[in-house]
Amino acid sequence: MDIDTLRSRWDTFAPVFADRYERYTRTLANTLASAAELENAASVLDLGCGAGGGGLEIHRYLRQDARLTCVDLSPEMLRIARSRLPEDVVVQEENAEKLSFPSATFDAVISNLCLMIVPDTDAALGEIRRVLRPGGVLAASVWGAPERSPMMTFVPGLAREMGLEMPAPPRSNFHLAGTFRDRLLAAGFENVVIGEQDMVMVVRSGAQWARDVLEASPGISGWLQTLAPEDAERFRQRAISKADAMLARGESIKLCAEWALAW
Ligand SMILES: C[S@@+](CC[C@H](N)C(=O)[O-])C[C@H]1O[C@@H](n2cnc3c(N)ncnc32)[C@H](O)[C@@H]1O
Repeated sequence: MDIDTLRSRWDTFAPVFADRYERYTRTLANTLASAAELENAASVLDLGCGAGGGGLEIHRYLRQDARLTCVDLSPEMLRIARSRLPEDVVVQEENAEKLSFPSATFDAVISNLCLMIVPDTDAALGEIRRVLRPGGVLAASVWGAPERSPMMTFVPGLAREMGLEMPAPPRSNFHLAGTFRDRLLAAGFENVVIGEQDMVMVVRSGAQWARDVLEASPGISGWLQTLAPEDAERFRQRAISKADAMLARGESIKLCAEWALAW
């Protein structure tokens, strides 16, 4: 996907993301901030900061004299982030593939659920290496094992089951699952520790899940609008019962995130 299309998709998604999804991503931001041992850092970059919820978490881990810079591709995400982050946090538009910062600017880079979306992942990893000071660390998460991530596979899986056509993205966001460590080593990091963390949707019913996913996510609600109204309704009903059945079996609707600490 080209960078302008990507930017405008995240601009459209920004208010819903901040309202419904960030409560989940913030749990992962905490893991990354803790893993990066930010008490040793004077300068920290949050790359792909979204609406700033992760930045608020990271900020709690910082020394008083440390400087946090939050960057993202989407101006709408950044507008929300600016309205929520403390004044001393720098918020600016950047493309991860070509950062404007001088080399060796940051002691730590945190990037939560962004690198699997960036079109040229290797360019972004090269830029992260470049802006890190010698001895600096990267703590980053990406989509992990698809078979343990029903939060992301539920809708396309059900569409397939029901014989409904859903346009596949040009590249799956699972493309770094299981290969993230190798990509980081190939980018020049010498040490990579890998972890996993489930990001669980806290929904109490299939109907609540449908409100948060089928109706709120622009990609999915837009796709439903392209279907014949009776197919869209049939899909909605099947999805709600399937989500209810999962919840009744005690299965969570979650994303298994793979995260890495690299230096
Ligand atoms: C899933 S959101 C995660 C946001 C935030 N890190 C969080 O955890 O709440 C992914 C973010 O990556 C940003 N993004 C995608 N491609 C990017 C790029 N090339 N450069 C900078 N940010 C990018 C999107 O705009 C979006 O805000």
